[in-house]
Amino acid sequence: MNLISPTLFEKIQFRLGLPDATLQHFRQAAAHIAGDSALYAQFQAQHEQIFGETYAYQITEVDAGEATSCWAPLLLLCRLPVLEAQYQALGIPDAVLTKTLSNFVFFMNNYFNAEGRIGFATYMINWLRHHMRMELFQLGRLQFERLPSPITAVVLQNAEGRTVALAPNGTLYRADGQINGTCGVSEKSPFSAEFQETDVAFYGTVLAGSGPISHEKQVFSKKIWKKLLDSDTPVLGVHIPGVGGRLTPEACDDSFAQAAAFFPKYFPSDCARAYTCVSWLLSTSVSRLLGPEANIARYAARFCLVPNLSQVSDVENYIFGGKPPPRQDDAPEHDELTLENTPLPPPQNALQQAAAEHLKKGGHFYVAGGYIPIG
Ligand SMILES: CC(C)(COP(=O)(O)OP(=O)(O)OC[C@H]1O[C@@H](n2cnc3c(N)ncnc32)[C@H](O)[C@@H]1OP(=O)(O)O)[C@@H](O)C(=O)NCCC(=O)NCCS
Repeated sequence: MNLISPTLFEKIQFRLGLPDATLQHFRQAAAHIAGDSALYAQFQAQHEQIFGETYAYQITEVDAGEATSCWAPLLLLCRLPVLEAQYQALGIPDAVLTKTLSNFVFFMNNYFNAEGRIGFATYMINWLRHHMRMELFQLGRLQFERLPSPITAVVLQNAEGRTVALAPNGTLYRADGQINGTCGVSEKSPFSAEFQETDVAFYGTVLAGSGPISHEKQVFSKKIWKKLLDSDTPVLGVHIPGVGGRLTPEACDDSFAQAAAFFPKYFPSDCARAYTCVSWLLSTSVSRLLGPEANIARYAARFCLVPNLSQVSDVENYIFGGKPPPRQDDAPEHDELTLENTPLPPPQNALQQAAAEHLKKGGHFYVAGGYIPIG
């Protein structure tokens, strides 16, 4: 089967609206790959890895000569004819596809600005494959991904809709309530959480949104509490693209309302139990610094928060657009990111100003996980 069909470039042009010169570059790269049987065999094999039954997470970087930086986008975009047919078969509006694929343009622009080349890096396949596999859709300002719960919590819910998040069995927590290893900081004797489920009850440690957690186990009767989320529960993961304007409450309301109608209509068997998000935007320090009226704080306030194991560079990159702080072997304990070890640019706006002050006082930023029950 020829993966790069003659009409592919018209389809790419229609969806992504790329400049003619960029499209021409893609055509040349495709011709280069198709004209070399060994390269094309690798292309086919990787395509199978991405779109086959079992997805391989690691896609090897291929030196395709002048076509190297177009390799990853072509691998994904050559799926466009199949994707269009899948959208049509389910009756999903065409505009959703175009909007969802606009994310490709964002990353191509970023790559061009950083590297001066057309395309994007191989590792981006791990993100943009979701768009091509009917796993992720952009609905208004936000993207929604069909996935098993990515948050580190077992969530219970009672008949009134109240929820409680418990620590998963065996998860290790530091004294400050963060998961051991967060921001590269591990304690020697972390608290090991226990979760247990019997015929009549759940037993576990209640998670705090931020701050230290009580190590005492609590009992939740099954007469009152049902399990809402575990690690394999289907959810809708919410992502916030870096383009599309400010994250106003109105834009978010609109996106969530669209999602509430979209997924039951087009994926009725999914039965997602919650919206989830794992992001620097949910960092309690960020909300505190900005105040409750800021868009970011209002977005975070939609979610019930739980600790998340992640690296500091996420937060730093998003706030300062900076590079990861230099890591030193002799870095003092809990020294994730400080003004001293991080060459930050001068603050440009309210958040950067407040974040710089926060760091100066020895404060931290942690990526958090969050959930909003559906129904
Ligand atoms: C999400 C996003 C649109 C929110 O922006 P917003 O609607 O302007 O948010 P707020 O109104 O709460 O911002 C409050 C202040 O923080 C600033 N701010 C917001 N996001 C910022 C960022 N990523 N870096 C630096 N400053 C930021 C705003 O400019 C504003 O400062 P000002 O009042 O001096 O202008 C923006 O952060 C963004 O585009 N981020 C990139 C995408 C992203 O982070 N996705 C999540 C990935 S996990």
